[in-house]
Amino acid sequence: MRIAPSILSADFANLQRELDAIKNADWAHVDVMDNHFVPNLTLGLPVVESLLKVAPMPLDAHLMIDDPDRWAPQYAEAGCKSVTFHVEAAADPKKIARDIRAAGARASMAIKPGTPWEPYEELLPELDMVLVMTVEPGFGGQSFMAEQMPKVRAVRESVKKHGGDIWIQVDGGVSAKTIEQCAEAGADTFVAGSAVYGAASAADAVEDLRRLAAGHAH
Ligand code: DX5
Ligand code: ZN
Repeated sequence: MRIAPSILSADFANLQRELDAIKNADWAHVDVMDNHFVPNLTLGLPVVESLLKVAPMPLDAHLMIDDPDRWAPQYAEAGCKSVTFHVEAAADPKKIARDIRAAGARASMAIKPGTPWEPYEELLPELDMVLVMTVEPGFGGQSFMAEQMPKVRAVRESVKKHGGDIWIQVDGGVSAKTIEQCAEAGADTFVAGSAVYGAASAADAVEDLRRLAAGHAH
């Protein structure tokens, strides 16, 4: 069970301090948004390069951007240990995944709430993680979509059949109230923004989430 706090809910004027506040997290989740694929703008490669210099944990880049074919490999080359592209924006998902792996990172593919899993099942051999979005991408602090749990189960079934070390991530509205049903459905990697950075102690929130998820490990 891996916890990846999203720095989208952190204080952007103090990102180094905010990363230090979650030293006990497995990953730090970095939401890259371009105002085209999603109606919000956050940060890009130059800021990620600076974060990589100071982050005490590996970075998990979630690219909510157009043209991931061009950009995703660059986040891997920069040093992000996991790079997630959205299949809805991808021209050639297989090639993106191969390019990410060739640059030394885990290759991950995200699907939005309205995107079905089945058409992409055949891509599993190219992937190290599948991200099932549990909100519409674009903003932190939205309500968890429990109706995405059947999709998490379907991905878990595919991964079981396929074998190998393929992680299943959920992102959006994950909190102490919702993480157990995600774990029970088969997720093993959990992004949480507001539930971590909105807590009195971010580190305590990470521990709580990990403990709750571990109670439902597959
Ligand atoms: C949403 C982002 C998420 C976001 C989650 O588009 O991908 O990573 O930060 O925030 P919470 O946990 O507050 O829903
Ligand atoms: Zn995200």
